Amino acid sequence: MRTLLLPLLLAAAAAAADAAGPDPLLCATAEEVARAAGYAMEAQSVRAADGYVLQLHRLRARGRGRPRAAGQPVLLLHGLFCASDLWLLRGPGAALGYLLVDDGYDVWLMNFRGNRYSSKHERLNSTNPAFWKFSWHEMAMWDLPAAVDHVLATTGWRQLQVVGHSMGNSVLLAMLATRPQYARKVALGSLLAPVAYIHRLRLPFSRTLLSDWGRIHSFLQRSGVYSIPATTNSSCSLFQQVCGDQKPTQDFCFRFVQSIYGWDPQGLNKTALPFYLSHLLAGVSVDTVAHFMQIVKSGRFEAMDRGPEENLRRYGSTTPPTYRLNGIDAPLALYYADNDYELHPKGVMQLAQELRNVVSISRVPDTAFNHVDFLLHEQVHSLLYSTVMTLMRQFRHNKTRNVSP
Ligand SMILES: *[C@@H]1O[C@H](CO)[C@@H](O)[C@H](O)[C@H]1NC(C)=O
Ligand SMILES: *[C@@H]1O[C@H](CO)[C@@H](O)[C@H](O)[C@H]1NC(C)=O
Ligand SMILES: *[C@@H]1O[C@H](CO)[C@@H](O)[C@H](O)[C@H]1NC(C)=O
Ligand SMILES: *[C@@H]1O[C@H](CO)[C@@H](O)[C@H](O)[C@H]1NC(C)=O
Repeated sequence: MRTLLLPLLLAAAAAAADAAGPDPLLCATAEEVARAAGYAMEAQSVRAADGYVLQLHRLRARGRGRPRAAGQPVLLLHGLFCASDLWLLRGPGAALGYLLVDDGYDVWLMNFRGNRYSSKHERLNSTNPAFWKFSWHEMAMWDLPAAVDHVLATTGWRQLQVVGHSMGNSVLLAMLATRPQYARKVALGSLLAPVAYIHRLRLPFSRTLLSDWGRIHSFLQRSGVYSIPATTNSSCSLFQQVCGDQKPTQDFCFRFVQSIYGWDPQGLNKTALPFYLSHLLAGVSVDTVAHFMQIVKSGRFEAMDRGPEENLRRYGSTTPPTYRLNGIDAPLALYYADNDYELHPKGVMQLAQELRNVVSISRVPDTAFNHVDFLLHEQVHSLLYSTVMTLMRQFRHNKTRNVSP
């Protein structure tokens, strides 16, 4: 009997494994990822003043019975190329989105214009080049204010907390510098890898990339390339084919990713790499990248240079204005890492000197910690988020609540 059962069981197991196929979450949306983790997520549309239609994701504990009274709202701002998903990828007990929900916050995930969730406009089709004529300056002028106002109006709170990664912080800083009335709405900003002064890129070929960027940009424009598209289901499966476990190219893929963000082989789970990569490219305009190239070159935290005429129209001056960092009142906490190839610690020190309400500056206590480790490191909770959340709790004033629950 037993001799018969064993092959049957093995065959059944093999069939089940076949039917399951690759990781079902490989190219899943933020809502699918959250649901699989046992959380509920709701998408809400927010209209930016210049017509872009953004999708905010509100993350909640899955309610058994009556939902708990929601706590202070927190808005999470994703980085360049990314979307709301990045705050979830490490999973429950490790990803910041879930940790904050578990800690009682009302968690909102931003999706800036141009990413897969925010690719609509009232009048412009995203196939129209005019749709893509924005950089992170416009995210700061229109997207973030609209999102902050929406969250406060929906929740009835007077202030929220903001947590940003990379570009999310550039947008936050540019908004606070340009629209000071929004500083009063921010109880605390926690800035993970605050990109304002990059100081020195440590990407491979960064010197060539920078010196040739002008030519690359105009070549892309002439070729009609205005956006860097999001991964599709077919590129997801390509990541699985090239970077998945047991693939001969996995090691190459792993090294390539490390060379972009910073060498930290201990920090990144190789098996999860295809899943991470599938979510790291969520769509953005070429101009957004161009704007970063400009501030790396100029060394100034300034608006995008669009030529004298267009500058005059957009900013009211022929040269791009510099964002006035020393005018920002909101309390800000800065977190940086030694091995961050996209943001040198010296750039963070320069930023800290200009800001006038820095409540803390923390270096992640791991010399190998890199730019994407802020979201994906295996020990990101103990190395970083526990510190971030301890400080956040001190700014969780109940006096900022407008209406009774
Ligand atoms: C892509 O994959 C996701 C989840 O794996 C699925 O929900 C979606 O329908 C797929 N999209 C297309 C166009 O096949
Ligand atoms: C946008 O343009 C494409 C191609 O021109 C078309 O197929 C699509 O229906 C348009 N979308 C909207 C929302 O008008
Ligand atoms: C790495 O990721 C895979 C796939 O998500 C997961 O099954 C595994 O437990 C992870 N390994 C560690 C050490 O966390
Ligand atoms: C905040 O709430 C706690 C109890 O929930 C209360 O004891 C405290 O007085 C409140 N503080 C303010 C400033 O309202």
